[in-house]
Amino acid sequence: HVLILDFGSQYTQLIARRVRELNIFSEIKPYNKVPEDLSPYKAVILSGSPSSVRSDEAPHPDLSGIKGKKPLLAVCYGAQYLAHFHGGNVAPSNTREYGRARLSHIENDNLFFQDIPVNSQVWMSHSDTIKELPTGAKLLASTHDVENAAYTIEGEDTYAIQFHPEVYHSEHGKQLLENFLVKIAQVAQDWTPDSFVESTVAELKAKIGDEKVILGLSGGVDSSVAAMLLHKAIGQQLHCIFVNNGLLRKNEFSDVLEQYQGMGLNVKGVDASARFLDELAGEADPETKRKIIGRVFVEVFDDESHLVEGAQWLAQGTIYPDVIESVSATGGPSATIKSHHNVGGLPDYMKLKVVEPLKMLFKDEVRRVGASMGLDKALLGRHPFPGPGLAIRILGDISAEKVAMLQEVDAIFINGLKENGLYDKVWQAGAMLLPVNSVGVMGDERTYEKCVALRAVESTDGMTADWVNLPYEFLQKVSNDIINKVRGVNRVVYDISSKPPATIEWE
Ligand code: XMP
Repeated sequence: HVLILDFGSQYTQLIARRVRELNIFSEIKPYNKVPEDLSPYKAVILSGSPSSVRSDEAPHPDLSGIKGKKPLLAVCYGAQYLAHFHGGNVAPSNTREYGRARLSHIENDNLFFQDIPVNSQVWMSHSDTIKELPTGAKLLASTHDVENAAYTIEGEDTYAIQFHPEVYHSEHGKQLLENFLVKIAQVAQDWTPDSFVESTVAELKAKIGDEKVILGLSGGVDSSVAAMLLHKAIGQQLHCIFVNNGLLRKNEFSDVLEQYQGMGLNVKGVDASARFLDELAGEADPETKRKIIGRVFVEVFDDESHLVEGAQWLAQGTIYPDVIESVSATGGPSATIKSHHNVGGLPDYMKLKVVEPLKMLFKDEVRRVGASMGLDKALLGRHPFPGPGLAIRILGDISAEKVAMLQEVDAIFINGLKENGLYDKVWQAGAMLLPVNSVGVMGDERTYEKCVALRAVESTDGMTADWVNLPYEFLQKVSNDIINKVRGVNRVVYDISSKPPATIEWE
């Protein structure tokens, strides 16, 4: 597979994804943690960086085991790095070199640029520029503003480009990566969802043997796909626990439990609704509500895991963005690994060995792996749903009545989206129960009842989001249904705030 050395560029993960789209597995490592054993890697890619190679604090790794020995592609900072330390010259550029540019000159007889036309759009983002190429280099391409836009080192499989092939705005970026990886480095394109399932199942079998594994299912995509992989590997040695915290969507606990059982999973549904609601009683502060839910979950899960006798493993649905070690802005390596517990007060189940079958996958790859194992489309296409569930959509304190009321409202909204073909066009949707009563009139009677807010957003990762322009007729129908069918609600509003400055959830 392919090694990507990260110098801290915001695009490093994109490089990994583009390479994987070519059915070639790729792995990101921080520049200062070059693996000692390079034999598994058929090619190496150097990422961009916010630093300047001319700065003493910039990443200056030792590439002697790589350059000239393995096919090497250096992107942006990488290209400057090779130039700066091998006889070339890098200096601040006079003009701004950001955004789109076009290749005005290309050496098409070089395999690297095969099938890439002159005028192809590329994406630039750099403030230093390569004034002189390194020793032994041959120029391969230029843009109008940047003469040294691409070069190769003669006698080596070393290629360097000033632009970013990994961003979508680089028109032939994927072709370029394919030319390098397939035609030049001759890496096999055999990493597919099917091959991932096959090799992961084999690895899990070897690792776990005849021991028992516990896994907490949430109804979400990641834990479900992780469970299916383990199920294929070890069958009934996998013990899944699905906790009802009483804050799920209407009928979700029974529906999802049934679905899991239909998949052949050995799953135990634990209804701890009353315990969660008891502990939450009277609590109105959002962060305290979250903490209570987190703590009670750990307690319930701990109790349940003791019932699985002799379990040695805890499986988690951790995915790649949770574990990539990234390079921080200061240049030092910073682990972004989430800590799931406070050292000292470890719950017992945390003393188990951990297995994370999705640890190397991006979210969209998890979906594809799920699809290749035949997981239900509806399950794979589910909107994200927060761990604390409806607790953070009931503003203020929580009661069983409020949960039931919001479940009805939410079900009308979500089913409406599904029935009208809107569900898959929306990244996340839900309803909020506001701590506000307002005056209304129903029949001849004056009412003084609750107000609910509907929210539907588009997003790619939840970090930024915008509200969705749902058709007025749809909102009209949903509003009518909610007010007519859900007792205690006499007003519906639609949230038209973007994130930032608002957030997706109201708490
Ligand atoms: P915000 O409200 O921060 O939400 O814009 C971004 C995404 O995160 C989800 N979210 C949570 N998920 N525990 C979770 O597991 C939480 O406490 C939590 N708070 C927000 C939210 O649903 C959205 O997808």
